[in-house]
Amino acid sequence: MEGACMGMGYVPVWLGCPVCRGALTTVAGHDGTEVVGLRCSRDDLTFRVQDGVIRLLVPGEEARAERLAREYRERRLQQGWRPPTVDALCALPFKPLPEMGRVYWHVRRHSFGLLRKLIHQERSTGRLPLRPRVVDMGAGMGWLARWLATWGCEVVALDISVDPFFGLGAARRVCTAAKVNVVLVQGGMEYPPFQAGQVDLLVYNASLHYAADLQRTLHAGATVLRPEGLLVIMDTPVVQGRSVSRRGTWVGGRQLGWEDVIEVAQQVGLRIECRSNGPRWWPVYQAWQRVRGERAFRLPFLVARR
Ligand SMILES: C[S@@+](CC[C@H](N)C(=O)[O-])C[C@H]1O[C@@H](n2cnc3c(N)ncnc32)[C@H](O)[C@@H]1O
Repeated sequence: MEGACMGMGYVPVWLGCPVCRGALTTVAGHDGTEVVGLRCSRDDLTFRVQDGVIRLLVPGEEARAERLAREYRERRLQQGWRPPTVDALCALPFKPLPEMGRVYWHVRRHSFGLLRKLIHQERSTGRLPLRPRVVDMGAGMGWLARWLATWGCEVVALDISVDPFFGLGAARRVCTAAKVNVVLVQGGMEYPPFQAGQVDLLVYNASLHYAADLQRTLHAGATVLRPEGLLVIMDTPVVQGRSVSRRGTWVGGRQLGWEDVIEVAQQVGLRIECRSNGPRWWPVYQAWQRVRGERAFRLPFLVARR
């Protein structure tokens, strides 16, 4: 498949079937110019393009995707979030969304700065190409994908949710407003729709703890990475020992256990390294968590190489 035109954007050649990871061919609309779908001939599957989003879910996953998106939206509204305006999203991470507090966005700016530095260093040493293929995994409202594209990366924003306010619907408006080209893909982190060995950098920004299965997700991530490609995990809560679930069964309440992360990374052939445990004041915040009787967690910046 050639890089083909899709409405406002284009279809990267490195997308793949979420079932077999094989290459896809484009399906043109009536006028023959616009791409309306992608096709996997091996699995006899056609994936549609709708509202500017390429729908690359594994067949049968639509109901789960809808449920996860609904739960996410309801949780956020219960937490007092309001659907952010495009201007507010474009100002992230520098100007915090008021609902989430200054502390939270301070942490997020810290990891954002580390990611920017990492990409810059890897490019200048030639370990990343000048225009790396990057996937924002669990991109949500797309504020990070927008910056990745601004920095000259070829970006796919992948999320299970196409929600107009908290999912890829919002990401579409952000990228249009910022005049950057980001390819929006509805898909699952557990079966990323890319061909094997094609992605330079996978970023899980506040999203890995949502994955249904850590082992499966990181195995799939490692498979789509090119040899020596990078996988970054940031703003995911990590506790000592094994993973735990807070807030009942909601996936967003999960905290990954450091032992699980290390064990799984080894199993799937990723060399993982912790570059930061959060801003300098984080240990003070952890002490406060303990005083309040909570289990202390950290938000490390983890870099893994295939
Ligand atoms: C806390 S939000 C983070 C969004 C964004 N990365 C950010 O930092 O603002 C987690 C995101 O993961 C998405 N998500 C949850 N489960 C997913 C899955 N299995 N596959 C892909 N995305 C998923 C949610 O829809 C949500 O947008």
